[in-house]
Amino acid sequence: MLKLGVLVSGGGTNLQAIIDAIEAGDLNAKITVVLSDNPEAYGLKRASAHGIPTEVVTRDGYPTKKTYDTRAVELLRSHGVEYVVLAGFMRIISKVFLAAFPMRIINIHPSLLPSFPGLDVQQAAIEHGVRFSGCTVHFVDEGIDSGPIIIQAVVPVLDGDTEDLLSARILKEEHRIYPQAIQFISEGRVRVHGRRVHIKGPGASESDHIVNPPITLTEG
Ligand code: GAR
Repeated sequence: MLKLGVLVSGGGTNLQAIIDAIEAGDLNAKITVVLSDNPEAYGLKRASAHGIPTEVVTRDGYPTKKTYDTRAVELLRSHGVEYVVLAGFMRIISKVFLAAFPMRIINIHPSLLPSFPGLDVQQAAIEHGVRFSGCTVHFVDEGIDSGPIIIQAVVPVLDGDTEDLLSARILKEEHRIYPQAIQFISEGRVRVHGRRVHIKGPGASESDHIVNPPITLTEG
């Protein structure tokens, strides 16, 4: 069974979705530790409520990226972690981390990458006027939100959307695709060829187009 280390900085709703999928028998994996850079992260409480061990590594204790990541890797290894799942972890992963878990670190990001990498991306999507946004599960590489893409989900951006409304619509999809991506990995179905991620077996969508807003020839 795939042993996961989940890294959180905040609320941890994606962590909760992964826990729920495991407990429902939909995801064949075990979270052996939840690690946070923020002692106040609600995700730590979610972990404890489900009997999952937690670790906190604060920035203060480890001022450089290298020392921070060395300590985090050491702790993840001590919990037998094989695969690292970033779930709202607001730190950039260094080479130390990447070398310790090569192509074994995944992230979820609340936009349709490569559009809108970085922070505050839901507001940026609204301001840009895009018709669609969504979320992306991807492998982590040395860039920012730039690694090979495993799954994406699309949501419409609606007239009158606020950052909160769009974030909530995207988050709902995050909670569906993140456990699914981990399950694909757990089943050994994921292969990476350059930038392209191939997923063996069933699961491809049947719909060949989505239009937003829907096209009608006449008003009303
Ligand atoms: C999620 O929307 C996730 O995609 C985003 O932070 C939120 C965490 O929510 N991650 C990033 O922006 C990473 N660049 P959660 O703590 O409730 O799972």
